[in-house]
Amino acid sequence: MAETLALTAATKAARYAELLPQIDALTAGESDLTANLANTAAALRQAFGFFWVGFYLVKGDELVLGPFQGPIACTRIRKGRGVCGGSWAQARTLLVPDVEQFPGHIACSSDSKSEIVVPVLKNGEVVAVLDVDSDQLNDFDADDQAALEQLMQRAAQWF
Ligand code: SME
Repeated sequence: MAETLALTAATKAARYAELLPQIDALTAGESDLTANLANTAAALRQAFGFFWVGFYLVKGDELVLGPFQGPIACTRIRKGRGVCGGSWAQARTLLVPDVEQFPGHIACSSDSKSEIVVPVLKNGEVVAVLDVDSDQLNDFDADDQAALEQLMQRAAQWF
């Protein structure tokens, strides 16, 4: 397993293209879910400097905080609540350019300005969501969505 990430690309799409195979390599020999989610959150934050990167896991009728990188966060989110609960309920990615314009947004931190939440689908069911928050407005676009959805398709095999 590599001990450091090798990231040289200047554009975001190219950086994701460099990063995804390295996350594959980091997780390939590891069967433990927590270990793989933890390294994925760390790799994404290290590569892009996002404000908060982490996972919420579906447990019963709630999402429960899982491995993350960043400031402390809310521990439980109900289905349909906030961006994370909305992504779970709709089983699709939610891209929010300005969290203050999103009805029901759950503010774990007032420094969070924009957000993307990508569900992890296993056999058609949402088992977790990846939440990435930025302290900049409008920080996520179709490049983030495409790369993070690809990453979460691979993450489904860890569950
Ligand atoms: N903002 C999220 C809650 C999670 S935190 O930001 C880490 C939401 O509305 O679902």
